[in-house]
Amino acid sequence: MKRNMKSLVELKNIWFRYEGQEDYILKDINLEIRDRDILLLLGRSGSGKTTIARIITGLIPHFYRGELKGNVIINGRSIVNKPIYEIAEYVGLIRQNPENQILMTNVEREIAFSLEFLDIPREDMRKRVHETANKLGISNLLSRDIDSLSGGELQKVAIASILVRKPSIIILDEPSSYLSPSSVNRLRQYIMMLNSEGIAFLIIDHRIDYWLDITTRIAVIYKGKKIFDNNLTEFLKFIEKFDVGLNIPLHLRLAIDVNKCCGKRVLPITQDTKKVLQILQKGGNNDRV
Ligand SMILES: Nc1ncnc2c1ncn2[C@@H]1O[C@H](COP(=O)(O)OP(=O)(O)O)[C@@H](O)[C@H]1O
Ligand SMILES: [Mg+2]
Repeated sequence: MKRNMKSLVELKNIWFRYEGQEDYILKDINLEIRDRDILLLLGRSGSGKTTIARIITGLIPHFYRGELKGNVIINGRSIVNKPIYEIAEYVGLIRQNPENQILMTNVEREIAFSLEFLDIPREDMRKRVHETANKLGISNLLSRDIDSLSGGELQKVAIASILVRKPSIIILDEPSSYLSPSSVNRLRQYIMMLNSEGIAFLIIDHRIDYWLDITTRIAVIYKGKKIFDNNLTEFLKFIEKFDVGLNIPLHLRLAIDVNKCCGKRVLPITQDTKKVLQILQKGGNNDRV
């Protein structure tokens, strides 16, 4: 098997409903995340994206109750009855509100706390915390109080707390909802750096345009079912045909229209496309945008 074909996460025929609900939120979901994938998971609000992240990380069924059918396989082993701390060695989740996942008052202790349940000697723990901080360029934050951090710094600490465990895959749930555009940009740099070092990513976000150019695959969930799972070229054909409540940015729509007119496919989200759109919005005749 080729290295990039190795399966890290496999959801097999997953059905799920939360306790007290009649309808299944997820209906027969099959999803595979392979080595080095950057998979973008899309779907309108309430379609079940966060629920999928909870299943992969074991928060479902351990933390959120409900009926779960099907199998979840991580690194070749079923995790359905595995404790969360064991799953956390392979999968890291950065939640929708990262401040909710912070438990300690000091940055160094917060990152080290992530290793608490792994069998690692104290001195190695310290070394790993410092290595991780160094890699993310936040060594200067280690002695700081969590309360004193900006949103962007908090984001880095949240990433460090995950990264320190050396996971195979990191899941980000709606990162752009709590980050400024410049912080998203920095996050993109981290993702590309870590991905080139072998970490796979599952990105859940309603802001499609931040991620399209770095994803290897795109999946779409609609009413609890997976209705699309393929590459960017196929995704563009798909959204031309179907309106499934995705928030398609204007410049991407423009690029699709231009593609249709030209009869050929150009990559849709270059800076040029954005510039053209800005010029059009300003009424044309504008050298500088
Ligand atoms: N803890 C919970 N208990 C009951 N229902 C929930 C819970 N969390 C989410 N839901 C419901 O499950 C559905 C899918 O939610 P979610 O996975 O958060 O969707 P998304 O992340 O795509 O917006 C929604 O109808 C939501 O109200
Ligand atoms: Mg969500």
